[in-house]
Amino acid sequence: MSKLSTTFLGHTFANPLMNASGVYCMDATDLGALHTSDSGSYITKSCTLEARAGNPEPRYRATPLGSINSMGLPNKGYGYYLDLARAHDYSHKPLFMSVAGLSLADNLVMMRTIRDANLPAIVELNLSCPNVPGKPQIAYDFAAMDAMLAAVTKEYTRPIGVKMPPYFDIAHFDEAAAILNRYPTVAFITCINSIGNALVIDTESESVVIKPKDGFGGIGGDYVLPTALANVNAFYRRCPEKRVIGCGGVKTGEHVFQHLLAGASLVQVGTALQEEGPGIFARLNAELIALLDRKGYKNIDEVRGRLKTL
Ligand SMILES: Cc1cc2nc3c(=O)[nH]c(=O)nc-3n(C[C@H](O)[C@H](O)[C@H](O)COP(=O)(O)O)c2cc1C
Repeated sequence: MSKLSTTFLGHTFANPLMNASGVYCMDATDLGALHTSDSGSYITKSCTLEARAGNPEPRYRATPLGSINSMGLPNKGYGYYLDLARAHDYSHKPLFMSVAGLSLADNLVMMRTIRDANLPAIVELNLSCPNVPGKPQIAYDFAAMDAMLAAVTKEYTRPIGVKMPPYFDIAHFDEAAAILNRYPTVAFITCINSIGNALVIDTESESVVIKPKDGFGGIGGDYVLPTALANVNAFYRRCPEKRVIGCGGVKTGEHVFQHLLAGASLVQVGTALQEEGPGIFARLNAELIALLDRKGYKNIDEVRGRLKTL
């Protein structure tokens, strides 16, 4: 066992790093680059029942502090990712599949098919998804979230994870965690998706920087690290039976370490991977090892959740 290796849901991971869904995972070429990278595992693009072209471009823009995007869930349809999951070499590294149905019915069709394929792939159900027009996304509509989880976990009885948007209010942490705790097969919680509906403005052109939604989009990168750490820690404290995957603002080994301290078992990289490419995993692993050595930690499991309060 190396310093960075860990186990999660019965799988062994060479290190805690993986991509965040949506980054470097649209097709076999992207995913192949992650397969040969130094990530411990990787996840496919959030998929829908049918393939989607997504929103008009430009729909992603990097900024000095992170990124903004309004991709509109472009993906090749769940059958494409399921075929890749069938062909995946699980002895090389574990694989996650992100599922993001546009309705409960769509999620049930996808989850039944994935269940029947009986693969070692681990499903991350994206709850940060559009719901009924005029209503908030699923994870911001607690009744819809509860109904979604009740129906999905009834059909799909193996462990799954949920990808959550950030919450900003203690009452919302409490309520979301209470709902998740009703479902024992929800084995992990990935925090966080992008902070939604931000607006980046370019001063020179006096314009928004992405085309969809009049420039409104989700932000990631430096903007979101403290919010991500808060959400990881909030769910780590409230859901002791579950594992947490940290996501948001990671671009150095130190950021990975902070996610582990907050309670993360694995750590995903979005914007920084998009900007630096899959070589980032070797750098993050090296930086994390150097930090663990300096602090005298023998492995990453010793770090998890050790955050001190004052
Ligand atoms: C271009 C892009 C596409 C994304 N697509 C998805 C997606 O399909 N599913 C998902 O759960 N999150 C998606 N996200 C959100 C990321 O997975 C991640 O939660 C967010 O960017 C925060 O991480 P970061 O600060 O490392 O970027 C996307 C993010 C970006 C930048």
